[in-house]
Amino acid sequence: MAILHLELVSFRNHNKQEFNFIPGLTVIWGENGSGKTAILEAIHVLSFGRSFRTHKYRELIKNKSSQLLVRGNFENKDTQDQVAVQMEKPSGIKLRLNGKPLSSRKELIGRNNVVVLSPEEQSVTKGAPIERRKFFDKMFSVTSREYVDTLQNYNRVLKQRNAVIQNAKDGSVPTKDIQSWDDQLISTGQKLWLLRFEFISTFKTRLSSVVNRYDNKILFELTYLKEAPTQGLYKSEITNALKKDLRLGRTTYGPHRDDISFVWDRRDLRSLGSQGEHKLSLVLLKLTEMVFIREKTGNHPTLLLDDLFAKLDLGRSKKIVSLLQGLETESGDPVQTIVTTTDLLNVEKSGLMSGEIENKTYNLKR
Ligand SMILES: Nc1ncnc2c1ncn2[C@@H]1O[C@H](COP(=O)(O)OP(=O)(O)O)[C@@H](O)[C@H]1O
Ligand SMILES: [Mg+2]
Repeated sequence: MAILHLELVSFRNHNKQEFNFIPGLTVIWGENGSGKTAILEAIHVLSFGRSFRTHKYRELIKNKSSQLLVRGNFENKDTQDQVAVQMEKPSGIKLRLNGKPLSSRKELIGRNNVVVLSPEEQSVTKGAPIERRKFFDKMFSVTSREYVDTLQNYNRVLKQRNAVIQNAKDGSVPTKDIQSWDDQLISTGQKLWLLRFEFISTFKTRLSSVVNRYDNKILFELTYLKEAPTQGLYKSEITNALKKDLRLGRTTYGPHRDDISFVWDRRDLRSLGSQGEHKLSLVLLKLTEMVFIREKTGNHPTLLLDDLFAKLDLGRSKKIVSLLQGLETESGDPVQTIVTTTDLLNVEKSGLMSGEIENKTYNLKR
């Protein structure tokens, strides 16, 4: 997969800008605040219909203007897509694929995949369980239509059941109305659990081989359920939780509460990891995401490396670059990489440029 052209109008600090990327390596350099991360963010919006920094599209519109436009051209093995995202202040977001309006971002998801590695996503390892669920849900959604559909169905039933819990709490409907949602909740919830369990098991295996290749003395893994709960167990847990649900005003048992933890050297990473362990873990998780997506879709996603080399020492940067180049060579499927930096020298020293036949550089001015 490769993005070849990007056009921004009133996106973050960018007024009107165009970029041509090459299938190999593109380096974007400029000082802090020049809009480097914003470019990667715009590419992510075209890929996923949403930013990786915020859910509020208004934040993306350059101040004082009333609308923004992001347009990009993607090339895959046998398809070419032009994706356009337009956002207007009162009316909202409009998506177009090859000129045709789309009714939902689901139609965009999975077509032109990207993996972002940005210090702004460190919440995956440092944040609450919801951040890790989001990381996995996104990866599984772009690789499986069944997963997106199931996740969406489950969230819809959950929302409806939670609304009834609220009403039952106020006394406006009887408690048994809550239970009328249980069968649907359990059937979609269990389906989600089974899919998530299967995908996480695969991810876990791939993570272990990526970690091993990086450094076989490192112990980094994830922990999750031993197995997805059976329908019988699910049913009894939901019944047992009813009182608690009523008290808290929401459904307290189910896959929306999953806790997926990362373990570094047998210690919980989130609570006990050092800064360096957090940074390196994120890199290893994202490289595994590349491997996972490539395995499920047959294509490598475009890799968006945001300020990576500023945050890592040279030794680690070099090791990461050579791991990445190894994945490319072995699969025979090149990885388009777009990297941002404040310091070109850092990228040069990492070895990222030397592995490429061709590369392109952009300098952003504030
Ligand atoms: N909606 C917006 N309108 C105008 N400027 C914005 C908006 N959102 C962010 N900015 C500014 O855009 C600049 C670029 O941010 P960023 O992409 O993070 O730059 P970099 O990654 O190069 O440090 C920042 O100075 C930020 O304050
Ligand atoms: Mg930045």
